[in-house]
Amino acid sequence: MEVIIQPNAESAARMAARLFTHLIRTKPNAVLGLATGGTPVPLYKQLIEQNLDWSQITSFNLDEYIGVGAEHPQSYHAFMHENLFRHVNINSANIHIPDGMAADPDLFCQSYEEKICAAGGIDLQLLGIGTDGHIGFNEPTSSLASRTRIKTLTARTRKDNARFFGSEDAVPFHVITMGIGTILDTRKTVLLATGKNKARAVAEAVEGPITSMNPASALQLHRSAIFCLDEEAASELTRTDYYRWVFDNKPAWQVI
Ligand code: PGA
Repeated sequence: MEVIIQPNAESAARMAARLFTHLIRTKPNAVLGLATGGTPVPLYKQLIEQNLDWSQITSFNLDEYIGVGAEHPQSYHAFMHENLFRHVNINSANIHIPDGMAADPDLFCQSYEEKICAAGGIDLQLLGIGTDGHIGFNEPTSSLASRTRIKTLTARTRKDNARFFGSEDAVPFHVITMGIGTILDTRKTVLLATGKNKARAVAEAVEGPITSMNPASALQLHRSAIFCLDEEAASELTRTDYYRWVFDNKPAWQVI
């Protein structure tokens, strides 16, 4: 794993955005895995400012609430449209977001996996992390081999996300999420985490044992996982000197 620590949320997002910019420029038909939540908003802003050509890009989002239609303001469909897609020239036929209104969610989940395979797999996956260590909506105790499926949110995640819905009661209980196995199959993944409330989950994920109690710790098994953190999210890590030393001494060919 690579841990990059930046002074603030803005510069952490810029570092993660650079990976996407580089990929879109060097592989115009890349397959991107995208995420929602408060954390990636500055990253999407920075990507929009780059005026990149998205015409051949394909995207797959991590998750969506069940029972929440695309037109619902808190749906992840609406989030992606508002924060990224309406600002870039992506072909809407190439956008994939789990359908929270699917008549047969199990069948939908299976076909989502098949579509990722048919697209050639995900080149670069963006992740956030929940205060409980979830990635996508893979809550603690999720199978580390899981694929896209239905999950039930923890009480903590529903509380964390109440800020988007106005009240905790309005937050759905169920979601469709890519599995941890789906995420581990991506070619490269960048987890962006900012703020003090993520520090414990980040420290457990990077330096703790691999355990389904912190689903992000499964990224220790990923072939190329990068954590982009601000100082606050990095504040409970013990080996920060080493992570900074690695970053400061990158060979030129490794710098993006
Ligand atoms: P947040 O969500 O960016 O809104 O904190 C992250 C997540 O739950 O994965």
